[in-house]
Amino acid sequence: MSGIATNLVWRQFRRMCSKSREQHAKARFISIKEKIISNTMISKNHLTPEISLHLITSECKLFHEPVCEGTERVFDNDPFWGFYWPGGQALSRFILDTPSVVKSLRILDVGSGSGACSIAAKMSGAKIAVANDIDYGAKVAADLNAELNNVIISTCTQNLIGNFCKDFDVILVGDVFYDKDIADQILPWLTNLRKKGKEIYIGDPGRHGLSTDAMNLMDKVLTYELPENCCIENNGFKIVNVWKVK
Ligand SMILES: C[S@@+](CC[C@H](N)C(=O)[O-])C[C@H]1O[C@@H](n2cnc3c(N)ncnc32)[C@H](O)[C@@H]1O
Repeated sequence: MSGIATNLVWRQFRRMCSKSREQHAKARFISIKEKIISNTMISKNHLTPEISLHLITSECKLFHEPVCEGTERVFDNDPFWGFYWPGGQALSRFILDTPSVVKSLRILDVGSGSGACSIAAKMSGAKIAVANDIDYGAKVAADLNAELNNVIISTCTQNLIGNFCKDFDVILVGDVFYDKDIADQILPWLTNLRKKGKEIYIGDPGRHGLSTDAMNLMDKVLTYELPENCCIENNGFKIVNVWKVK
């Protein structure tokens, strides 16, 4: 075979591989989207009834079926995106009531889960909002929820901890201080970003990852009372705070 013919065959082979990768990615997205739709209810029963979300509520089978060893999982990872965590609810409520904190700005929502904070930011006039979560299921849920609320957001599944975030003005962190490990990774990163001029808001109901030392680096902006269903789902947390890194 001549050099030109080999080149042509090689290019055709690469095109086929790339097409097959695209088809595989599309099929994966659609399969998770269908599973989310069939395992969740659309809910407005939370602090931001302006936002509808596909959530795993007490009416859903999955809510009552903890995953046991040996049973087949519906989703590869625990579906954190199927719950609207107190920290995310408070941050979204704050953004909807105080649009000036995001208006015309570029927003990064770290640990975005359902994507609610990104949706709230876009509803409040953000220039762009990126829902960032390392779980691919959360990416699909955020896309689906954005569509449900008629807003356009972007999604990203990269672990951005340590990133300079040069394309963002405001960082939102809803309920990500759920243990010491993640707190130890995320807090130094956030305080560095603050030194670079980013505005950083954290929603948290008092999880143990947010230590007294951590709180000393922040100002409390607001406290909300949680709705009853949310208290029950969240081990009795009754209030939730919005913090701003100093
Ligand atoms: C408790 S959920 C909070 C979800 C949402 N912010 C809310 O308040 O409803 C925490 C989320 O953080 C995500 N997460 C954990 N480590 C992360 C990381 N390094 N980068 C991005 N997301 C992460 C998890 O996958 C999970 O969806």
